[in-house]
Amino acid sequence: MAALDGKELILGVTGSIAAYKAVYLLRELTGLGARVTVCLTEHAREFVGPLTFRTLSGRPVLSNLFDPQSPDAVEHVALAERAHAVVVAPATANLLAKAAHGIADDFLTTVLLAARGQVLIAPAMDGGMWDHAAVRANVALLRERGVTVLEPEAGALASGLSGKGRLPDVEAIVEALLGVLTPQRDLAGERILVTAGPTREPIDPVRYISNRSSGKMGYGIARAALRRGADVTLVSGPTALTPPAGAVFVPVQTAEEMREAVLQHAPGASIVIKAAAVADWRPKHAANTKIKTKQDLTIELTPNPDILAEVAARRTGAFIVGFAAETNEVAANAKAKLKAKGIDVLVVNDVSQAGIGFDADDNEVLLLDRWGGEHGLPRMSKAAVADAILSHLLAVRAAVRGDRIKR
Ligand code: PMT
Repeated sequence: MAALDGKELILGVTGSIAAYKAVYLLRELTGLGARVTVCLTEHAREFVGPLTFRTLSGRPVLSNLFDPQSPDAVEHVALAERAHAVVVAPATANLLAKAAHGIADDFLTTVLLAARGQVLIAPAMDGGMWDHAAVRANVALLRERGVTVLEPEAGALASGLSGKGRLPDVEAIVEALLGVLTPQRDLAGERILVTAGPTREPIDPVRYISNRSSGKMGYGIARAALRRGADVTLVSGPTALTPPAGAVFVPVQTAEEMREAVLQHAPGASIVIKAAAVADWRPKHAANTKIKTKQDLTIELTPNPDILAEVAARRTGAFIVGFAAETNEVAANAKAKLKAKGIDVLVVNDVSQAGIGFDADDNEVLLLDRWGGEHGLPRMSKAAVADAILSHLLAVRAAVRGDRIKR
């Protein structure tokens, strides 16, 4: 039986120079047994004609929502509802923007709004465009909603420049599709407690001490764990993110509140992952009324409790994972932190590096474990890092349990 036997797919193609690669993708998908309906945007038709897609798919090609000649045009909702997945490859920055904001002004974007199955988007564009703040925000929004947006590849671009913007290989797109259609359930039965975001330590009713954590790393871990079958509790400081559907969500503001929530939920957890950036200090005395301006102000700070060390010391039986945000002597500081906190694994990010760490969409981490293991992950989207961290934790824990690593 082929991997995609019985799967009904819609392949959306947009107006990119990489549109010709969609032909190879279509051939691969049908070869794996999928029934594929191709949907071309008006601009995609400028790059590759519908006849090629029609011949290879054996089905009419959809394109014009308002084509009175096309009986298929009125069926777009039913078609999208039936499909196990919609794959858009290549996807332009324009398509990402429309998909993120629910604009449905042609057949493909209407299909995306009506889709009930998985949505996988493989972008292709100029490197500068991929890095543009608007594109980054649109990609983040789509991922937050559960859409799988692949990372473009780095290399020579149609503009003559080189950068990150090339359509991923057909093999990579197919592999990602197989992943979303037959998701891993390797975390079924696990109860995972994740912390995310910053804490806010009040100075007075309107001011606070905090840090630049956006929560993206912790939310990414929570989302990946849910997808892989875990029961997830997410204790989160204030962020602008939407809580992942299916998680028990515990919003907190201060480190004290986070401590309370973590200590309450840790006893039932099999894995605790503390990705939150807890403020290390809080004002010793928060003012009850707004402090008047135009005066010098000295704030006396007191250290916050070390939640991670405390939860590790309680030995609840959970596998305990911390994060370390380092800026200098990264490896040495991290090794000392792993020991000092008494935890099982420490995920280290060098937050002095541009493009990773606090408030970035990507991360690059080193995983250290208490048994002396070290495992580096290259720079990837936080969603991909989250998945790789979870896989590594399972592998280390299994090795320890199976006595392949000595305790
Ligand atoms: O949220 P993002 O914008 O996506 O950014 C992700 C991140 C950079 C915040 C994340 O990857 C990360 O590094 N999180 C930990 C940040 C941090 O507080 O590091 P730390 O080295 O100060 O703390 C080490 C560990 O102890 C952390 O697991 C922290 O949650 C925990 N801690 C720290 C202080 C404290 N009082 N209590 C704690 O539990």
